[in-house]
Amino acid sequence: MSSWGNEIKISIFGESHGNGIGVVLDGLPSGEKLDMEEIYKQMARRAPGRDKTATPRLEKDFPEILSGVLNDTTTGAPLCAVIRNTNTRSQDYGNVLSCPRPGHADYTGYVRYHGFNDIRGGGHFSGRLTAPLVFAGAVCRQILSRRGIFIAAHIASVGNIKDSTFDPVSIPSQLIERLSSVSFGLIDTSKEESMRELIEQCRLAQDSIGGTVECAIVGIPAGVGSPMFDGVENVISSIVFGIPAVKGIEFGAGFDAAQMKGSQNNDEFCYSGDKVVTRTNNHGGILGGITSGMPVIFRAAFKPTPSISAEQKTVDLTSGKDTTLFINGRHDPCIVPRAVPVVEAAAAVAVTELLARSQMLNK
Ligand SMILES: Cc1cc2nc3c(=O)[nH]c(=O)nc-3n(C[C@H](O)[C@H](O)[C@H](O)COP(=O)(O)O)c2cc1C
Repeated sequence: MSSWGNEIKISIFGESHGNGIGVVLDGLPSGEKLDMEEIYKQMARRAPGRDKTATPRLEKDFPEILSGVLNDTTTGAPLCAVIRNTNTRSQDYGNVLSCPRPGHADYTGYVRYHGFNDIRGGGHFSGRLTAPLVFAGAVCRQILSRRGIFIAAHIASVGNIKDSTFDPVSIPSQLIERLSSVSFGLIDTSKEESMRELIEQCRLAQDSIGGTVECAIVGIPAGVGSPMFDGVENVISSIVFGIPAVKGIEFGAGFDAAQMKGSQNNDEFCYSGDKVVTRTNNHGGILGGITSGMPVIFRAAFKPTPSISAEQKTVDLTSGKDTTLFINGRHDPCIVPRAVPVVEAAAAVAVTELLARSQMLNK
């Protein structure tokens, strides 16, 4: 289903080439002032058509708020925002109606919905459906920043080119501020050129490339979350896996911890003033599903964009025969740069939900 959350419920609707897409956010606290310019800025970071690393489909992604906000302030009623689709070219998708794209959801969607799903532009499976998620995240991050919680992500890798990682113990506020306002977010900006070159090489070779996004949540107090099935990892993962093309997630030292000894992986405690902190942060700010007060750090792995221009083998579901496919349409040669604000947004919604569940949201 396309709805998520117990306390802060979000419901995302629409299809890539339908009239529009949008989100309903329910359970938000009332009286939260929204800086609309800041929301538009976050939407613009994800919007397509900015450069060669993204699809040339030009969409302004302007959210029209239908309810839940009066005088730029949340009323507590369901907040609904709609983004009209204006730049569709559905004729590009004529051939995938019966010949599913390898790596995309055309085949599985066809089976699941008995051929009734809207396949144009990927329909409800499209990366475009992350625009309403960024809207929801932009609202939530304003609510969180008022409570001293800040979120930033960066392109951790594209193919085998890696950015520096966050210092998991201490993340400077200037870095968070810079990353949450740029559209090609890197800690080490000297990596931008080589990443862009690799993406361009892949595009020219009619191919695409995957990568990873690292996200940090700073200022989250200790004691948020619950054990077993309602842990912070569970809640963040479930919304991050709602982002199309995410294939993996790891927290703190993640899979590297599997190669460590306890003495290397354990993060020793100490006092910083009267606050308990850890000297290292392999645990990524979460122990037993509950926050420790250290930054929450996670990385999400994105597969390469499925729609590539090179000829591929597929099946023709109408004739029941094997066939070949050329994909038309406008596609991102690499999803990762545009996914950075989406991951931040997912984290913002997840943290708002977690705070509400722990009765720590209301001021
Ligand atoms: C921001 C963003 C942009 C995307 N752009 C494209 C695209 O241009 N072409 C494409 O084939 N897939 C794109 N995707 C990925 C597909 O939507 C996704 O791979 C597909 O729905 C199958 O789902 P899965 O990869 O999660 O299994 C994009 C994903 C995101 C998050």
